Amino acid sequence: MNERDTLKINKKGHLEIGGMDAVDIANKFGTPVYVFDEAYIRNMMRTYKNAIVKHYGGNGLVLYASKAFSCMAVYAIAKQEGIGVDVVSGGELYTAIKAGFDAQKIYMHGNNKLVSELELALDNKIGNIVVDSFREADILNKLAADRGIVQNVLIRINPGVEAHTHSFVQTARTDSKFGFSVSDGAAEEMTAHVLEKKNLKLLGYHCHIGSQIFEKQSFVLAAQKVMDFCAVIKQKLCFEAETLNIGGGFGVWYNGEDPKLKPADYEDYLKCLIDAIKAKAEEHALKLPYLVIEPGRSIVGEAGVTLYTVGAIKEIAGIKKYVAVDGGMFDNPRYALYQSKYTVMLANRANEPCTEKVSVAGKCCESGDLIAVDVPLPKAESGDIMAVLTTGAYNYSMASNYNRNFIPPAILVKDGKAEYIIKPQTYDDLTRNDVVPEYLK
Ligand code: LLP
Repeated sequence: MNERDTLKINKKGHLEIGGMDAVDIANKFGTPVYVFDEAYIRNMMRTYKNAIVKHYGGNGLVLYASKAFSCMAVYAIAKQEGIGVDVVSGGELYTAIKAGFDAQKIYMHGNNKLVSELELALDNKIGNIVVDSFREADILNKLAADRGIVQNVLIRINPGVEAHTHSFVQTARTDSKFGFSVSDGAAEEMTAHVLEKKNLKLLGYHCHIGSQIFEKQSFVLAAQKVMDFCAVIKQKLCFEAETLNIGGGFGVWYNGEDPKLKPADYEDYLKCLIDAIKAKAEEHALKLPYLVIEPGRSIVGEAGVTLYTVGAIKEIAGIKKYVAVDGGMFDNPRYALYQSKYTVMLANRANEPCTEKVSVAGKCCESGDLIAVDVPLPKAESGDIMAVLTTGAYNYSMASNYNRNFIPPAILVKDGKAEYIIKPQTYDDLTRNDVVPEYLK
């Protein structure tokens, strides 16, 4: 499998996703709609799982970073594939539990977890909590003591590795709201703090250097720095980390500027990282840690396509042509937030050559509501079905009801069949929690 296998152009000249004609999907389910190819998601989960078996004797766990796309069906797939998940909120945790996910295989993150979220985690007996502040350690210890349990934890550390990616999605720089820096002694201080807590069992460390990263060296460097830190801690505090969670961040293809990686390439990322850990373990005479990774984007990103219908088309002579679709920043805020680039196609005319460059606009009342700028397309007409590729990660999960638009439904395609995994919203859903106080009536 490679990333394009989910997409084909069929005899009618239509885009096909996971064996289904995109035009048929649009006719049956309407637009806008998020379409996910189940086979792609499973394949990526297996790629990472098998790589840990092949290169590390199975001494580790793949967690799907569910912030990339959280809904009950995706947790159900992860469960069947025998991997774990990471969650970052009570909502993600609740969704995973409701989907029947094994709580022991859930890791919880967050730089400011709410007490209610920690309580939900403990009451569901989740496997591991990644502690990110002194305050959190104190609260968690107390909550665990109240319940008469000892909670497994990791500490999020910040090895100070700069990865080449958008500054908002870099997380392990020294100036970050996440984690304890190794360089200023905070990570060591926090280790000593957690080791004193009777109701917390420190298993090791977590770091995550950022997202949409292609340089293997960034991952290798982070792993080396964390292992060096483990060696220092062993010497100073007599604590040897059993678990190392190295985060996610592996990049995906969005457009011509990105490499198109194959599963073998993702396996290679992991192998390089594992080689670095093995070498450092030998250098410092450390035990080989239980290795946890947390890919999100690379599992679901290229598995997803958003389908829209083209509506208004506006040409400003000599300046720009806007092709407006029935979605926008409410289903995909990534251009507005990060100027992210996407590949755009006409799904019903997928064989036709691109003859012009257009900007794809959404339907929100704001000029910045764009999905893509200056992208090549055949001459679009109202009623065409537009496909925006690689929208599986951080699209639905960052969607909103801005302008009281509906968050689109999501469907899962498998063996040429499609089913809802997230149903369409209704106007009643939008007003369900609204209350008009008596005096306003
Ligand atoms: N683990 C932790 C602790 C994370 O913070 C993240 C992503 C991941 C794992 C998964 O990283 P991935 O494999 O998906 O790169 N909204 C941004 C991305 C934010 C990523 C946040 N953390 C975007 O749309 O690009």
